[in-house]
Amino acid sequence: MSYYEIQGGRPLCGALAIHGCKNSVLPILAACLLAPGQSVIHNCPDLSDVSATLDILRLLGCRADREGNTVVIDASALGRSDIPERLMREMRSSVIFLGALLARLGTAELFYPGGCELGPRPIDLHLSALRTLGAEILEEQGALCCRRGREGLSGREICLSIPSVGATENIMLAACGCPGVTTIVGAAQEPEIVDLQNFLRAMGAEIDGAGTPAIAVRGGAPLHPAEHRVMGDRIAAATYLCGVAAAGGEAELTGVAPDTLTAVLACLEEAGCTVHTGRDRVTLANAGPLRGIRPVRTAPYPGFPTDAQAVLMAALAGGEGATLFVENIFDSRYRHVDELRRMGADIQIAGRAAMVSGVGMLHGAGLRSPDLRGGAALVVAALGAEGASQVSELRHIRRGYQDLDKNLRALGADIRELP
Ligand code: UD1
Repeated sequence: MSYYEIQGGRPLCGALAIHGCKNSVLPILAACLLAPGQSVIHNCPDLSDVSATLDILRLLGCRADREGNTVVIDASALGRSDIPERLMREMRSSVIFLGALLARLGTAELFYPGGCELGPRPIDLHLSALRTLGAEILEEQGALCCRRGREGLSGREICLSIPSVGATENIMLAACGCPGVTTIVGAAQEPEIVDLQNFLRAMGAEIDGAGTPAIAVRGGAPLHPAEHRVMGDRIAAATYLCGVAAAGGEAELTGVAPDTLTAVLACLEEAGCTVHTGRDRVTLANAGPLRGIRPVRTAPYPGFPTDAQAVLMAALAGGEGATLFVENIFDSRYRHVDELRRMGADIQIAGRAAMVSGVGMLHGAGLRSPDLRGGAALVVAALGAEGASQVSELRHIRRGYQDLDKNLRALGADIRELP
């Protein structure tokens, strides 16, 4: 099984283009189902989660072709509405196909995504919202059978008790196929929701409010295929920024909007880094040890993203001073902590809180990626550590990072993938 061999302590310098955003391309690819014909998606990152999504589209009868970072989806021959359990297990966010299939075909059969490495991953908000829109959903032994109810689908008001990203996206997709107006109250405000709205508008959808807690969709009219460029991946950007913060150096990231990174940049500045931003670029420089900062509490956007918690913790663990982290979004999101401790980190966990006492310098170790962002965090820690680290279980990292090792090498890191 392949692993990264990382010799820490080399400063990272240079420029890097950030790839397209995993979390916005997945619902955008599902949205391609909404209209027959060819949609063209640019800046589509080459990730295993994206490949899994393309496999699902092909299985459903679509053509899906990639050329470089452009993917062409032809949904003219969409013939099936069932997704086998194997593909659902491969990528739990495939539940996003529920709303898209319901809107286009009026039926969807897939499997309950179940728990995952971040703990239980309920979809109750998705299901109750689709029921409100008029779907009948049968749940049997993990299978979900969903179809347009006898009275058909129609726009309604849906209040979300939690601003769930996936539920907001699923409702937006389903609502495109519901005559009348659907309003989502308490919607997630993440930039990825805005990206999905932009694509749906390009397809001819009447939709407003993404980026605020209230989204309105006037659905039922036929949509047409469209061309779209996916936004830059703010979590990949946060990962590289934390890498530069941990290892020292100065790097400019392009292709990412700094206003999607406000909470992360504020923490890195407080920790002692110098940050400059332009329209679609961020430069970060750091010369000394990172300082402890005020408590980092993960929260829905625009709060500190749960997906950047592990990479920031990895950087601060090798700095000086203490920082309290509070993980408010997912249970089981501290699985990187045991691995960081193997590098000498001093981290105490009590429920949702993790107290990180910077030890000045971590040391290299043999490490296993526990999940996608936890794996990236180990790479960040290893870049700043003294000595060599080996990071295994790269399949997790490949779900969300394209060419992580190659990009870091281009910045001057000593990282190689070994078989
Ligand atoms: C998305 C992101 C993920 C990110 C997360 C939070 C994708 C593909 N993934 O995941 O990277 O970490 O947002 O920013 O975009 N919840 C329920 N019931 C539901 C749905 C969610 O209780 O029906 C809870 C979850 O358990 C969690 C919270 O709501 O505690 C937020 O989850 P949600 O925003 O739905 O995350 P995802 O869309 O799964």
